[in-house]
Amino acid sequence: MKMLLKNITVLPMAEPGKIIEKGYVLINGNLIEAVGSGDPPAGEYEKVIDGTNYLVMPGLINTHTHAAMTMLRSYADDLPLMEWLQTKIWPMEDRLTGDDIYWGTMLAIIEMIKSGTTTFTDMYFHMDRVAQAVEETGIRAVLSRGMIGVGPENQLAIEQSRQLIEQWQGAANGRITFMLGPHAPYTCPPDYLKQVADLARETGAGINIHVAETLDEINTINRDYGVSSVVYLEKAGIFEFPVTAAHCVHLSDEDIAILKKYGVGVAHNPESNMKLASGIAPVPRMLEEGVPVGLGTDGASSNNDLDMLQETRTCALLHKVNNMDPTVLPAEQALTMATALGAKALHLGDQIGCLRPGYKADMILINLNQPHMIPRYDLIANLVYAGKASDVDTVIIDGRIVMENRQLTTIDEKQVLEKCKEIAARLVHNKD
Ligand code: NI
Repeated sequence: MKMLLKNITVLPMAEPGKIIEKGYVLINGNLIEAVGSGDPPAGEYEKVIDGTNYLVMPGLINTHTHAAMTMLRSYADDLPLMEWLQTKIWPMEDRLTGDDIYWGTMLAIIEMIKSGTTTFTDMYFHMDRVAQAVEETGIRAVLSRGMIGVGPENQLAIEQSRQLIEQWQGAANGRITFMLGPHAPYTCPPDYLKQVADLARETGAGINIHVAETLDEINTINRDYGVSSVVYLEKAGIFEFPVTAAHCVHLSDEDIAILKKYGVGVAHNPESNMKLASGIAPVPRMLEEGVPVGLGTDGASSNNDLDMLQETRTCALLHKVNNMDPTVLPAEQALTMATALGAKALHLGDQIGCLRPGYKADMILINLNQPHMIPRYDLIANLVYAGKASDVDTVIIDGRIVMENRQLTTIDEKQVLEKCKEIAARLVHNKD
């Protein structure tokens, strides 16, 4: 299908500072064909959107979440990390069925599309049901089955990962990418990581892993192996593959140099790190070194939402106050993390993350005619410091409109909300 957006403000995120005040975007099939200023080229279009008072920009990219944890949203909060995990989150997760994960993921996808996210990165279990939700809804996703090397299912996780990759790699017209998901250094011993590396070599899949999230992890790895988490993974050969490393809160200069050397992408989760009191990742230093740092929300039980505009604002504000310097992480840099840099962190920087001919047609329309968006001295500052999820009006993913005028076109929202309420009631009722 050929689609045209015209009379629209375009923020391509393809080069610093570029904004087209009155321009157009031409979509052909699932790709962007042209981005320009002024009047669009004459042609036949099946769909034309007049974008007067709207902005079009690349869809937001959530580089780290656990989508189905929407089912655990606000079930347990304000507890120490290990107590939170051991007494609340893990027992609840044990009760989640494949169906629960499907519906929880659908709930997450609704929230993500309605807040402008067009790609999300997921690590969880029952990933065939997650892939099913991705296929049905039209969103783009990088999926991995969580692999715990020290657990009883460690070999099952290897086998299932291999099967998931065989079945789903590149599925849904290329919207699904599968990675391997070794959970973290402290849950994956060296011999298990070697198995993961072998499977990465065999399948060509990348690797999604939590790294240096807490001081506890750093101390454990240092005690057991005498090195940092990053050096531990380097020695295990993990960085020889395309890696997206979530958190990277506690890093030395040597660690940052290693991430840079291997082209490791980083998923920064400021709100989760703040809520769980994990610490503050050295994001300005990583960016200075050229490490691609994207943004993630983490799961809805440690955030507690999947709102990427809000995450972008939190990121900018956190690093300013942490450095006692308001010039740190300016609005445009933060927004780049939520788009083009996020794509690079997922090793998809040549396909998504900016509006450029030949790229996937993943974009969002933002309603600029709202009190908190006026006046418009600085469009990007308005978006980052005043923008809201509800400003997202229309969402296009892979050339398909999945939300128009805030109405979802691929999901029965009411049905999903009712279903999730029922599941939550059952989960809490069965807890004893
Ligand atoms: Ni996580």
